Amino acid sequence: MKLSQKIQEMELSPIRKFVPYADQARAAGKKVYGLNIGQPDIKTPRAFFDAVQNFDQEVLAYANSQGIPELLEALVGYYKRIGLDFEKKDLLITNGGSEALSMIMTAILDPGDEVIMAEPFYTNYKTFIKAAGGNIVAIPTTAEDGYQYAVREKIEGVLTPKTKAIAIINPGNPTGKVLTKEEMDLIIDIVVKNDLYLICDEVYREFVYDGKSMSTFGAYKEAAQNVIIVDSVSKRFSACGARIGSIASKNEDLMKNLMKICQARLCVPTLDQVGSAALYNLDPSYFDDIKKEYEYRRNVSVEALNEIEGIKYGVPEGAFYLFPKCSSFFGKSDGETTIHNSTDLAMYLLEKGHVATVGGDAFGDAECFRMSYATSDENITEAMRRIRDVLAKLK
Ligand SMILES: Cc1ncc(COP(=O)(O)O)c(C=O)c1O
Repeated sequence: MKLSQKIQEMELSPIRKFVPYADQARAAGKKVYGLNIGQPDIKTPRAFFDAVQNFDQEVLAYANSQGIPELLEALVGYYKRIGLDFEKKDLLITNGGSEALSMIMTAILDPGDEVIMAEPFYTNYKTFIKAAGGNIVAIPTTAEDGYQYAVREKIEGVLTPKTKAIAIINPGNPTGKVLTKEEMDLIIDIVVKNDLYLICDEVYREFVYDGKSMSTFGAYKEAAQNVIIVDSVSKRFSACGARIGSIASKNEDLMKNLMKICQARLCVPTLDQVGSAALYNLDPSYFDDIKKEYEYRRNVSVEALNEIEGIKYGVPEGAFYLFPKCSSFFGKSDGETTIHNSTDLAMYLLEKGHVATVGGDAFGDAECFRMSYATSDENITEAMRRIRDVLAKLK
């Protein structure tokens, strides 16, 4: 028996690669600073649990494949508050943003079709796109060029007859890049002119700092047929375990066809939808404190990071990740271990300092490594102190 070529070409998630090592260290009574996963420590709003507790039905039945009406209505309300006129018929509830992305790729890609993405990008896109038979065509960007990918020549330069879509993560993971209005206008112009889908992963939409206001590709009426919005309660409401995501699009043909996959997977867990409806009904002021807290943590971590010899890092504009360069440590050794690349460095930080991070090769930039600052400022400060001390041993 032989596995498919495509599954053999996929990789395990590098973000979760070190989890067994971290678990081992924890089992041995060590505190591990888990900066590898974007798992917010901010409390899930009480409204989620209250709604689940008040669920009063005698049978926990299958839900509607599209999603339960309360959640669809709550999502319509949330979009309305941010200026978007999605109606219930334009929405599908999914098992997290992850399932939304997988379904979209399956619905739009034929074998060999291409999706343009700015690199570095959230590593699991490789699996979503490969599973659907497609290929990623990367536009390389760096911190030095401000992670700028919305440049006409860069995007038009990689268009081919096989290009089906541009996928944008805005704000970016792992880069923190936030698109300007001009950059968004340009992307819209390109997708409309070239008849491409625009997959807009806006799961970090609210998390933009320095007084910037949030933006969404859903606002471009002229591209309503191209735009597919992916959302999730995971980061937005600190509810990663709820596994509730969504697809929003005015493209009726796409939505009608996506329903085939929704119906085959029957439904999304009912109780998670009940709780998530309460989350999407929260007053938007909920985000004010959360944003302030993340901005503060970002500032604390960037400051601490820049005190580490060998690391120089700018200020990410959004989401909750740091992606500093660590190539100045490549080739260095503590006498026993030599660091050859960013994955070695991540392993070294975990073994010696009990700080879990992710090597940047996973995201398409092997010179960097990723950390999440969705944890308390005490944890961040201690993790950064440990990183500084561990790296100081490398000569
Ligand atoms: C950019 C981006 N998109 C999608 C996801 C998927 O999140 P979930 O499946 O929890 O909604 C993540 C999770 O880290 C992410 O960072």
